[in-house]
Amino acid sequence: MKIVVHTDQADQWQAALSEALPEATVLKSDAPAQERQGADYLAVWKAPGHLLAEQRALKGIINLGAGVDHLLASPERPADVPIVKLRDAGMGELMADYVLYGVLHFYRSMDRYSAQQPGAQWQPHEVVEKAQWPVGVLGLGAIGQAVASALDQAGFPVLGWSRSPKTLKNVRCLHGEAGLDELLGQVQSVVTILPDTPATRHILNAERLARLPKGGSVINPGRGGLIDEDALLEALGSGEQEGHLRGALLDVFSEEPLPAAHPLWQHPRVLITPHMAAPTPLADAIDQVISYLHAFEAGDAIATVNPSDGY
Ligand code: GLV
Repeated sequence: MKIVVHTDQADQWQAALSEALPEATVLKSDAPAQERQGADYLAVWKAPGHLLAEQRALKGIINLGAGVDHLLASPERPADVPIVKLRDAGMGELMADYVLYGVLHFYRSMDRYSAQQPGAQWQPHEVVEKAQWPVGVLGLGAIGQAVASALDQAGFPVLGWSRSPKTLKNVRCLHGEAGLDELLGQVQSVVTILPDTPATRHILNAERLARLPKGGSVINPGRGGLIDEDALLEALGSGEQEGHLRGALLDVFSEEPLPAAHPLWQHPRVLITPHMAAPTPLADAIDQVISYLHAFEAGDAIATVNPSDGY
């Protein structure tokens, strides 16, 4: 079995896969081109086009992350090769931590306290009951479900939204256009964990942001394309004057790294993190990749990505 690996942590992946599969040849994507030819599998994150185009005998592509948007957007991707992606693989817990931090940031007025500090303003803010702070989670895949469950366990009422109907314990699950509008009208904080597809592009546009209650907050650890950034800036108001929305915690952007001149950097009510919410935890991910490889080789049924759905 020949596997070609392409990721920032290619050395670790090469070592771990070689150890788990001693019979396999595991190469990094910078190996000489003739050695890379005829691979059975690519295990890749943000693979360069030539790596996808040059292979002729692939049995599968393993996406070393949760989102397949980059891979599906590559014109060089061989359309008939099945794709599998990491599902949770430890990212659910990391994402849940990030979202809990974000929800608590607004719920416990940490945004207001950081704004008060430069003026040495000693002014506590009321803490409402959690029952009055419903949180909406857009996207109920493996990671969205982990986030929804963590929010529920922390005591927040949780509303969830997905494209197709879902049933989850202690989560009010909504779907479809009407379900989305209903959710947005009821939550204090909205969290976006949807895949980036043509159907989800700018799902939070000006009209939908306006459906959030005044003072609502947005947390986006999913994909930059889910939010119309201009509409978000508009809804947040100018630096001095609070707008319809109170603030945002953003980990992902339509262009990454977020360009230095982008107005989001300077907005006083926007907290920016550099796409760090859920870095793929190596140990969990390696176990999952090895089980994918065994399943491919054994011809077992595997949940593959549906390119037309985009996830
Ligand atoms: C990270 O962005 C991922 O999709 O895993």
